[in-house]
Amino acid sequence: MRALVVGSGYLGGTIGGRVRALGGQAVLSSRRRPGAASASGLDWRELDVRSPLACREIVRDVAPDALVVVHGPSDITWCEQNPDEAMAAHGAGARNLAAAADGRPVLLISTDNVFDGERTSSAESDAVNPANAYGAAKLAAERTLLDTGTALALRVSLVYGWDPDGIRPNFFTTCARALRAGRELEVPDDHWNTPVLVDDVAAWSVALLLAGRTGLLHLGGPERLSRHAWARRIAAALDLDDTGVRAVPRERSAYACRPVNACLHSERAAELPELTGLEPAGVDESALRLSAIAAADTDRPT
Ligand SMILES: NC(=O)c1ccc[n+]([C@@H]2O[C@H](COP(=O)([O-])OP(=O)(O)OC[C@H]3O[C@@H](n4cnc5c(N)ncnc54)[C@H](OP(=O)(O)O)[C@@H]3O)[C@@H](O)[C@H]2O)c1
Repeated sequence: MRALVVGSGYLGGTIGGRVRALGGQAVLSSRRRPGAASASGLDWRELDVRSPLACREIVRDVAPDALVVVHGPSDITWCEQNPDEAMAAHGAGARNLAAAADGRPVLLISTDNVFDGERTSSAESDAVNPANAYGAAKLAAERTLLDTGTALALRVSLVYGWDPDGIRPNFFTTCARALRAGRELEVPDDHWNTPVLVDDVAAWSVALLLAGRTGLLHLGGPERLSRHAWARRIAAALDLDDTGVRAVPRERSAYACRPVNACLHSERAAELPELTGLEPAGVDESALRLSAIAAADTDRPT
C-alpha cells in the first residue's frame, strides 16, 4: 500500500511508520517539515489542506492507494479560542481532501469530542452532540468524508506514548517528566478518559485500511479512569513518588473545555477479524513498556 498521510505529527508519524513496517510506503504531509524524530525517515511533502488546489496536486503527484487524514489543529483549547480556524482546517480541509481523493479509500482519525460527555462512555450508535469547537469541526470532517462512501472515521480516545520531542507532549510523557523532576502536577479527578496507546491506534488504522473498512468505528483503551488516577498509576509503574500529584476540579484545570467523559467503546470492533490480536493495551502494561524507553532517556532536560 502507498499511503498519503495528511498530518506529520504524533499520530501521522506513527501511522506512517506502521505502514512502512508492514512493507508499504507512506508519504507524510503538513505545512512545515516535521523534526527528524517525528518524521522517522519517511518521505514528506508540503501541504496546507485549506487549499483545494494543493490537495488535488499532492494526490496527483503522490498517486496514493489511500489517504490517512490526521492533521491538526489538535489542541482542543486552541480550537475553542479559534473556532473558525479549526473549522477551516478540519471542515473545509475534509471537503478538499474528499474531492482530491476521487474515490480512493480515506481513513480519518476522529475524536470522542464529537460527544457531549453526558454518558460514561459512547459507542458508534450513540447520538453525537459536540462538546466544543474542536468536536464540531471534527464532526463536520467526518460527515463530509463518510458521504463519499469510501471513508472510515476511526474515533479514538486520548492517545499516549513516550513523545518527548512532540510539540505538545502527551499526558503520559508530561506526567513522566514532571514526576521524574519532582514537579507538582495538578490534574482533574472529575474528567474521565479511556486512554489508548499510540501504537495500538497505528496498528488498528493500517489493519482497517488494508481490510477496506468504511463507516464509523470507535477505539478506546480498556480502562476508564480520571486523569488523577492515571497520573498516580503512571507514578507507580515508573516507581516514582506520587505525592506531587494533586487533584483539581476539571473546571479549574487546563481541561475545562473537554467533555466530562471523553470515553469510547465499540459495538462493532469484535466482529472485525483483522483486529484479532490487536486488542488495545491497558495503561499499566503500556506504562511498564514505556518506562523502559523513558528510563533510557536520562540525558534529556526535564
Ligand atoms: N492526539 C490525540 O490524543 C488525538 C485523539 C483523537 C483524535 N486525534 C486527531 O488526530 C489528529 C492528529 O493528532 P496529533 O496528536 O498527531 O496532532 P499533532 O501532533 O498536533 O500533529 C498535527 C499535524 O497536522 C499538521 N497540520 C496542521 N494544520 C495543517 C494544515 N492546515 N494542513 C496540513 N497539515 C496541517 C501539523 O503540521 P503543521 O502545523 O506544520 O502543518 C502536524 O503535522 C488531529 O486531527 C486530532 O483531531 C488526536
